[in-house]
Amino acid sequence: MSQVELINISKSYDKQKDVLNEINVSIKEGEFFVLVGPSGSGKSTLLRMIAGLEEISGGILKINNEAVNHLPPKNRDLSMVFQNYALYPHLTVEQNILFGLKARKVDKKEQQKRLTEAAEMLGLSELLKRKPRELSGGQRQRVALGRSVVSHAPLCLMDEPLSNLDAKLRANMRVQIRRLQKSLGLTMIYVTHDQVEAMTMGDRIMVLNEGKIQQVGKPITLYNEPENLFVASFIGSPKMNLGKAVFTEDSSQLVIENQIHITIDPIMVKDLPRNRNLVVGIRPEHLMPGFEKENHITYLEAVNVEQLGNETSIAFDIGSELWTAKWPGQWRIQYGQRVPVQIAPEHILFFDGDTGNLLKSANIGKRQEVVAI
Ligand SMILES: Nc1ncnc2c1ncn2[C@@H]1O[C@H](COP(=O)(O)OP(=O)(O)OP(=O)(O)O)[C@@H](O)[C@H]1O
Ligand SMILES: [Mg+2]
Repeated sequence: MSQVELINISKSYDKQKDVLNEINVSIKEGEFFVLVGPSGSGKSTLLRMIAGLEEISGGILKINNEAVNHLPPKNRDLSMVFQNYALYPHLTVEQNILFGLKARKVDKKEQQKRLTEAAEMLGLSELLKRKPRELSGGQRQRVALGRSVVSHAPLCLMDEPLSNLDAKLRANMRVQIRRLQKSLGLTMIYVTHDQVEAMTMGDRIMVLNEGKIQQVGKPITLYNEPENLFVASFIGSPKMNLGKAVFTEDSSQLVIENQIHITIDPIMVKDLPRNRNLVVGIRPEHLMPGFEKENHITYLEAVNVEQLGNETSIAFDIGSELWTAKWPGQWRIQYGQRVPVQIAPEHILFFDGDTGNLLKSANIGKRQEVVAI
């Protein structure tokens, strides 16, 4: 088991610009912790610093309550899967996977046992005698995963380990990695730029942008209560619909992008500032199909329609933004058709237009619970 603490961690490569800035976070023992952010946000840099492969410019890194800033990588009792696999080209798949165990002189029988388990889980059993150049990108990636899986180190760092796999294999590996992590009780720090991977795998997620923490929390908290506009538009797919908004004088209506008028109960929004620029956010599943005579119906012109089989995705031009509605089932809608859409006030999130910070989250209502029998 391992616990990792980052205290005021910063990094600059050229002493001018910080690639990472005041990173403060505690990762618990046995936690699946996901680091997510766009390309260049500093994810790999942070992971490499935890592994001991990159010098820490400022702050303290603790593993199991001990400062390890200057501890060499091999003494940190961790395994790492690199973004670019880093396999030994002259060794076979089997030798690559067992490399670390051989170096640590682990019992031969134990080596073979772990190799068989890992190869089966990763679908590599038929490929053990091949060299990396004889493998596809996805197969190489799985060998790199195998090396980490057999190590049984209590702290596991993974840098985009599934990026080269096809969609089906990726979905399967997501489940396998989660299971393995839980059954071995590993502490996992997992980097991805894929927000679906982050949402589905993480016990907690940390969103990073330009080297700064945007939010740390449970996936569902980030989805329901994003602390700022960056998290709001980064988490969730299709992304949250955003638009500039103002209240009418008497606060009875909200006007979005000068185009959508929504009648609201002033009591519901009484705590929102009247004299500031506002941005509202509405999730695609909350731009719901409208039926005549219902409240809060707006007619919007469909500019694109995607039939996904289980759901229909409809796009609208709202101000300078492209909004998306996600409707369950199959809907026959033509391009250019005016579609009745219902926007319930309780589904609207409010952000400060200047700072981007969340002012009010949506009242999603109580989540449904399944009671185990
Ligand atoms: N060795 C280096 N020297 C100078 N700058 C670097 C070095 N390595 C990374 N950087 C810069 O640091 C920033 C963060 O890079 P990093 O590799 O950590 O991003 P990332 O979030 O992992 O991105 P990606 O999703 O593309 O892998 C980038 O602006 C990158 O150009
Ligand atoms: Mg990276």
